[in-house]
Amino acid sequence: MIKSLTASFLYMTILMMANQHVEAFCLRDELKTDLTTAGDQKYYCEYNDGVHVFRMSPGTQQITADCLRCSCDMDGLQCCGFGRNAGVVILPTECKEISFGCHSFYVKRLNESLDCFTNDPITIPPRHLLDQPLV
Ligand SMILES: *[C@@H]1O[C@H](CO)[C@@H](O)[C@H](O)[C@H]1NC(C)=O
Repeated sequence: MIKSLTASFLYMTILMMANQHVEAFCLRDELKTDLTTAGDQKYYCEYNDGVHVFRMSPGTQQITADCLRCSCDMDGLQCCGFGRNAGVVILPTECKEISFGCHSFYVKRLNESLDCFTNDPITIPPRHLLDQPLV
């Protein structure tokens, strides 16, 4: 009885840790509209990353230079941080973060080819296979 309680407590703790080491943040903005020269309404989303202002059509997705993944639909714009912009990451002391563009990898300090959380060997994919920010 005590043993199985301990085991399920451990299991729950591990599950909670797995879910909580990244706390993503998202932001939303409303859909904007413009009148075309023909007088039709044109819908778009707009995002300003501090360097560029870009417009997106409903139904499209875009990655920004500040490491957000944005999507535009008829409900408006939603952008969520990913990689090094994913939010607060609580790392065990034996781990460290390696940033690679927008992407973060969490590895063991003692062996940077091991994943911090799973202990599996990790391979950092070549840059061209990672999402490229919009420039
Ligand atoms: C790091 O881990 C990899 C994968 O398990 C292993 O092949 C390698 O020998 C380890 N390197 C060191 C320095 O322990």
